[in-house]
Amino acid sequence: MTKKPLILDACCGGRAWWHNKHHPAAVYMDARQDSIPLCDGRTVVIAPDIVADFRAIPFPDGHFQAVLFDPPHLLRAGQKSWLRARYGVLSRDTWQNDLRQGFSECFRVLKNGGSLLFKWNETQIPLSHVLPLAAPFAPLVTHSRNKTHFAFFLKI
Ligand SMILES: C[S@@+](CC[C@H](N)C(=O)[O-])C[C@H]1O[C@@H](n2cnc3c(N)ncnc32)[C@H](O)[C@@H]1O
Repeated sequence: MTKKPLILDACCGGRAWWHNKHHPAAVYMDARQDSIPLCDGRTVVIAPDIVADFRAIPFPDGHFQAVLFDPPHLLRAGQKSWLRARYGVLSRDTWQNDLRQGFSECFRVLKNGGSLLFKWNETQIPLSHVLPLAAPFAPLVTHSRNKTHFAFFLKI
């Protein structure tokens, strides 16, 4: 396996969607490093390789073959809720600009021909309000199950 990371997980959270949560080709990034005990006895552990903001990703242009972008999707969640601990929340005032900047940074650090996988749950904000924030890029395919959507983009 290559030593140079090929994949950026731009907001890895607890890495729940990874089969191998320590994949050698991946860099795991999140804006926080935290360990949050839940009332049911479980603990949410957020332990990224690097703590950084997806609005200012600390890598050069065209660095990665693939980027995973699974940002917070909620505007409202209880202060002590499992949802907030696990997924974080968006700023009600700036979420559109934040996600626009996030998309722009994800595409900047992606090689030409590289792919971006975006995940969104539309419990509070419809996917149709979010995909335009990726402009000028648009997804090639999407897959949806209930309110959760996956959108695949290619940087071409
Ligand atoms: C939906 S969760 C990601 C879940 C993750 N894909 C998993 O499998 O567990 C969103 C994550 O984005 C992080 N986050 C929020 N704002 C961020 C930012 N500006 N830059 C990087 N990460 C951010 C949150 O801390 C949270 O862990």
